[in-house]
Formats: sequence, C-alpha cells, structure tokens
Amino acid sequence: MPRIGIELNNVCNLDCTHCFRSIYRGGAENNHDLFLPPELLEKILTEAQALGYHHVAITGGEPPMHPRFGECLDIIARLGYTYHFLTNARNFGKTLKAVSEPARRAKLAGISFSLDGATEATHDGIRGKGSYREVVTAIATCQAVGIEASIISTINKANRHEIDQLALLGAHLKVRRQIFSHQNPTEHNVGEDLVLPLTEWRAVERDVARVMTGFRHDISMAVGFYTEYFLPRCAPLALDDLNIDYRGRLTLCCQLSNYRDAKGDGEDVVGDLRRISLPEALGNLLGLVRKVHGERLAMAADPQQREKLHYPCLVCVERFQKTSKEPMLVQLTR
Ligand SMILES: C[S@@+](CC[C@H](N)C(=O)[O-])C[C@H]1O[C@@H](n2cnc3c(N)ncnc32)[C@H](O)[C@@H]1O
Ligand code: SF4
Ligand code: SF4
Repeated sequence: MPRIGIELNNVCNLDCTHCFRSIYRGGAENNHDLFLPPELLEKILTEAQALGYHHVAITGGEPPMHPRFGECLDIIARLGYTYHFLTNARNFGKTLKAVSEPARRAKLAGISFSLDGATEATHDGIRGKGSYREVVTAIATCQAVGIEASIISTINKANRHEIDQLALLGAHLKVRRQIFSHQNPTEHNVGEDLVLPLTEWRAVERDVARVMTGFRHDISMAVGFYTEYFLPRCAPLALDDLNIDYRGRLTLCCQLSNYRDAKGDGEDVVGDLRRISLPEALGNLLGLVRKVHGERLAMAADPQQREKLHYPCLVCVERFQKTSKEPMLVQLTR
C-alpha cells in the first residue's frame, strides 16, 4: 500500500548511540520550528489524498513529543487516512491516552516500537537506562487493549548475537510484525564501534532469514540488505513511500532525511510544500529518481563501482553526502 511518511518533529527524549538523525534533545518551548505545523500537515495530506494516498506512516524525532500530537491525529483521521507511528515508548501512558480518543483510535492501524536488544543490558546500552522496560511494557499494554504492535530492530555489533532472542521475544509479546534492519553508518556510531563490518551483513541476513520461518509472526528484513538488483526497487524510489520532513519538505527517503553528519540540505530535498504543491514537488522527485537510476546504471558498468550496488542504501548515503567523504565500503571494511 502506498504510504505518505511524515516526520512530525525533530525532537527526542532519548540519545540512542546508533541514531542517524540530527536531533534536538531539549524541550518544545521556544523551538516551534522543530515541529511540523498541523495546518501544513492538513494541506499536504489533502494534496496527497487526491493522488490516492490513504495511509500515513508517522516518524520523527519522537512523534508523540509534538505538542499538538493529538490535533495532528485528528487531521489524519478526519481526512480518512489510516495511520501508524514509530516510537521509543517513553511516556507511553500519555501516548496511549492521545490515541485512545475514539476518532483517532478508529484509524490507528498499529504502533511500531524500536527494540534494539533482547536483553535489558543490550537495549539500554544503546538507547539509555529504563528504555527496555518501557518498550516491553508498552507492547504488552497494546496487546491488552487490542492495538496491533510491531517491532523494529536495528542490528549492530552490540545486538548482532541476539537476533534469535529478539524473534523469540517478539513471539512472546505477540507482535504482528517484526522488522530487522541494518544500521546505516554515522561518524558517531562508527566512532562508538557499533557498525558491523560489511563482511558480516550477509550473515546477519542469513540469521534473520532463519528466524523468518521459525515463528508465527511476520518477520522481515528492511530494505538495505544485499541485493543482486542494481536498480533499487525500494518504496521511496518507486514513489510508494513519500517522505515529508519536519519542515514540510518532500525528500527522497526517511533514511537520508536530516542525517546526523550532513552539511546542510542535500539534493534529496526536492520541494518545500509551504511554497509549492505536492504534485509540483513530486515532479521534482521524479527527476531525481530518474537521475539516481541513471547513475546506478553507470555504476553497474564500472568494475570499480558495481560491487557497491549490492547495498543500495549505503550507495545513497554516500551519493547524497550524508556522512564523511571517505567511500563507505572502505570505511566499513577497515
Ligand atoms: C529515527 S527513529 C524515529 C522514531 C522513534 N524515535 C524511534 O526510535 O522509534 C526511526 C527508526 O530509525 C532507526 N534508526 C536510527 N538510527 C539508525 C541507523 N543509523 N540506521 C538504521 N536505522 C536507524 C531507529 O532505531 C528507529 O527504529
Ligand atoms: S532512534 Fe529514535 S529514540 Fe533514538 S535518538 Fe533517534 S529519534 Fe530518538
Ligand atoms: S536510502 Fe536509497 S536505496 Fe535505500 S530505501 Fe532510501 S532511496 Fe531506497
């Protein structure tokens, strides 16, 4: 199902070691430009609706920290969209209260929780003290009140050995869906020695593939895994996943947006929806998509470059200059 992804804010109450966002970690006061205005959200969703989008995937930052979170959900529901959001589960009681209002609850398709370790020590080592208990308790609460919960786990050096346990925990918590993802590099997470060498990424994918068949819930690997296809078939490049950043700009992909080490806006920011319409911005995006595919065709013909294409998201991180200038493969295999 095509989805419109919305980064509702750029504020967070955690400071996860692996995080690829350049996030503000203070309070909301005096920082109103870090939150997508509900009025702009309404304009964008009205335009997207006319193009056949019916589902909103909310991310951030930490979405429930938007001071007008409930109002945003009201707009989404009123326009007839279903929605889900990603959260770190901090202050989940407040979040649950916000989504329990009947009109909002009726359109809630589910909540995705980030779980980065099967044990408290591993998860909290990445996400901070107390987080593991918050996530596990929040998932159990969803189970109790009939909200469909999913888990997303980003695999790195700290949790690589816990893939089986993570799947087992997902089964115990009765989640509907569990997604494993590779961790994209930042100067910070490379510095903290969290990034697995590229030579181990396929072994991670094999471990995930093994647990996929052993459990009843749906387990999958997020885009970014090894592929033989050199023209990526990811949802952003197919325009099945649009990404709107917290400033109300259409960007190529939520994985590249507001990247921690990026110097200013990149070419992936294709249109400011405060100023232009979504169809106009999509016209720009189509131009970029075509350019990206053209570049990948050229890379595929170059023996020096083609091996990189097995990991399409790393090619994007390098192509859009989201982290240091050093070529990604060199950096990761050092
Ligand atoms: C940026 S967070 C925003 C939502 C919310 N704050 C949370 O953590 O769930 C969205 C997802 O991106 C993941 N993520 C963060 N840094 C990443 C990285 N370097 N590579 C891949 N995924 C990453 C997070 O673990 C989380 O599942
Ligand atoms: S991964 Fe999510 S919870 Fe962690 S710092 Fe980034 S935005 Fe915040
Ligand atoms: S980073 Fe690039 S290849 Fe990966 S999902 Fe986004 S657009 Fe597709």
